Amino acid sequence: MTASTTTGHTDGERLRGRIAAELARARSRTALLTEVVDDADLMRQHSPLMSPLVWDLAHVGNQEELWLVRDVGGREPVRCDIDELYDAFKQPRRDRPTLPLLPPAEARAYLGTVRDKVHDLLDTVRFTERALVAEGFAFGMIVQHEQQHDETMLATHQLRAGSAVLHAPAPPEPSATVGGEVLVPAGAFTMGTDTDPWALDNERPAHRVDLPAYVIDAAPVTNGQYEAFIADGGYTDPRWWSPAGWAHRVQERLDAPMHWQRDGDGWSYRRFGRWGRVRADEPVVHVCFYEAQAYAAWAGKRLPTEAEWEKAARWDPATGRSRRYPWGDEDPTEAHANLDQRHLRPAPVGAYPAGASPLGVHQLIGDVWEWTSTTFRGHPGFTAFPYREYSEVFFGDDYRVLRGGSFGTDRSACRGTFRNWDYPIRRQIFSGFRCARDAGPDESHR
Ligand SMILES: [Fe+2]
Repeated sequence: MTASTTTGHTDGERLRGRIAAELARARSRTALLTEVVDDADLMRQHSPLMSPLVWDLAHVGNQEELWLVRDVGGREPVRCDIDELYDAFKQPRRDRPTLPLLPPAEARAYLGTVRDKVHDLLDTVRFTERALVAEGFAFGMIVQHEQQHDETMLATHQLRAGSAVLHAPAPPEPSATVGGEVLVPAGAFTMGTDTDPWALDNERPAHRVDLPAYVIDAAPVTNGQYEAFIADGGYTDPRWWSPAGWAHRVQERLDAPMHWQRDGDGWSYRRFGRWGRVRADEPVVHVCFYEAQAYAAWAGKRLPTEAEWEKAARWDPATGRSRRYPWGDEDPTEAHANLDQRHLRPAPVGAYPAGASPLGVHQLIGDVWEWTSTTFRGHPGFTAFPYREYSEVFFGDDYRVLRGGSFGTDRSACRGTFRNWDYPIRRQIFSGFRCARDAGPDESHR
């Protein structure tokens, strides 16, 4: 055996081990989120915006069957009779509760059968023969898909009425004083990636983007800052709102973030079935794009573009290269970011100094998804892979890009290049924001 085949063999084993561990980690979260409620609760639609949890559950298994069992493995279908039921494009969310869905026990058995077949084919799959399996891509895509649905299911739990069923320790307290703004000097940086093996099609390819100097908030906008906007009449002054945002605000009678309620002279917030006072130094969450845009205008700023967000998160002025994460290339740990549903709330500003970018921008990864002003498009040179329905069918002016992941996002589905998108009216997701502005002439030459 030559040295290179020995290395290839070892790398393959290491990749198999990593895939098995990531699949197991995703499945234990899916199990937790669907075992803490009873069958009736799993079958119920908790909000017209969301699927019944049991739909997400079987859909996760069905995607795993389609991509791994049938496509990668070339095996016989486990259940082709249910493909249509769990096709997100064929079944709008509002209709999903009326479908003849698999009952919870049957859905769990289906997921188990599919997973057994995946473990079987993982033993023998060769990772180099097709683009779909190179470096384990299809497995990584399915891991991320399950984790993304786990975040969606967590959002369903937040909308669910009834007593609390989820429990988690509080996030760390602040260990650094963080505030104000950071100047990002003018110049080009590399946006997107060619090399991250599990990066999805919309994160590719890497390309140079030249930006003028700008200033970005060192931290996400907090509840305390947002309360000042409310107290100053921000919701009743059309000056701060775009025409579409104002029309939406009036129609939906928005007057505070979702889940907030007046409590004496302050606010309370319902989080996973428990009421608590709004904490001033926590990033605001459950605001829509229009609310974020109005706050930014009121503050004399604007939302960052997606490229501005990514340069602040990845660009290293010492080397000129773009990192995978603000802190470097290594995967997130508990010291870097509030991810993985470890804490079921955003962490106060200053809780993750080890996760700051080289320029000193904090909490870009984890805590809250951050709205940007950019509509969702492919990067220059975009190629749909492995199918148009992953990203390309969503390109256009209807969606705004969100970046950075939330406390509900798993680390496997969150990178400095990872892109999320949603309608500007949506706020059942774990969405917040930070502000930016153009650098003044005296600032840009500092
Ligand atoms: Fe899906």
